[in-house]
Amino acid sequence: MTTPLLSVNNLSKTFQRRGQNVQAVDGVSLTIQPGETWALVGESGSGKSTTGRLILGLTAASGGEVLFEGRSLLTQSAAEWRSVRKEMQMIFQDPLSSLDPKRSIGYSLEEPLIIHGIGNRRQAVAEMLSHVGLRPEDAGRYPHEFSGGQRQRIGIARALILKPKLIICDEPVSALDVSIQSQILNLLMSLQREYGLAYLFISHDLNVVRHIADRVGVMSRGRIVEQGSAEAIFTRPQHDYTRYLLNAILPAHPAAPDGLRAVVNG
Ligand SMILES: Nc1ncnc2c1ncn2[C@@H]1O[C@H](COP(=O)(O)OP(=O)(O)OP(=O)(O)O)[C@@H](O)[C@H]1O
Ligand SMILES: [Mg+2]
Repeated sequence: MTTPLLSVNNLSKTFQRRGQNVQAVDGVSLTIQPGETWALVGESGSGKSTTGRLILGLTAASGGEVLFEGRSLLTQSAAEWRSVRKEMQMIFQDPLSSLDPKRSIGYSLEEPLIIHGIGNRRQAVAEMLSHVGLRPEDAGRYPHEFSGGQRQRIGIARALILKPKLIICDEPVSALDVSIQSQILNLLMSLQREYGLAYLFISHDLNVVRHIADRVGVMSRGRIVEQGSAEAIFTRPQHDYTRYLLNAILPAHPAAPDGLRAVVNG
């Protein structure tokens, strides 16, 4: 067995809201291997985004541990933390949230390279733009000049520019038209093959997840109630909540039952 890329053990987060405790994440454990797509699914408010933010250290955990390549992230010095953090990036539902409207996208892509003291930046930016299906000349343009799908390509380029090993994708296609969704998903899959990337893919949309996931964890009220291979989760769901989620998607998508079997059976 190789060392897992990411191990999350018993992670928890309690928020205080109006004097009440909200247990947003309650003892989550998961293991991601290099190069795999691990999908975290569940209804709104189940704790998916909070789990992603805890892993990246964007939100402080109330308990548990996160190991990246066997190294604990909660006990690192600032310098060690920064070097590990370079290996883990995030893609958001709204790419504008990670882009400065007053800066050219070339600058937004260069910024992580500047922070980490990496040279040859103009060339790296031009190459990355081509990689995600944009043009090197686009570096001089501003976020508002791009469509939603193009902006997500920019968000992907920004996440990839430091050559991370893991990208946490939080609902990366939820805000896009269905036709654009499949273009972005295909791009994510081809970049994964090219760079050997692992994804923690957060989504409430099982129709999206069944196309891309190797493993699936089903989250409800802060807990992972079931996890397994995508094949097992989609064909032999064990937990009532998983069956409920699967049943909830099928009626809305008349073509799904056959499509589901086709995807799951290869
Ligand atoms: N900063 C915060 N302060 C207080 N409560 C929060 C905070 N962030 C999240 N929560 C609460 O934690 C719970 C989990 O939220 P989270 O955003 O992780 O869910 P989610 O599964 O990502 O939902 P969605 O599918 O809507 O994005 C919710 O009850 C939410 O209201
Ligand atoms: Mg969320």
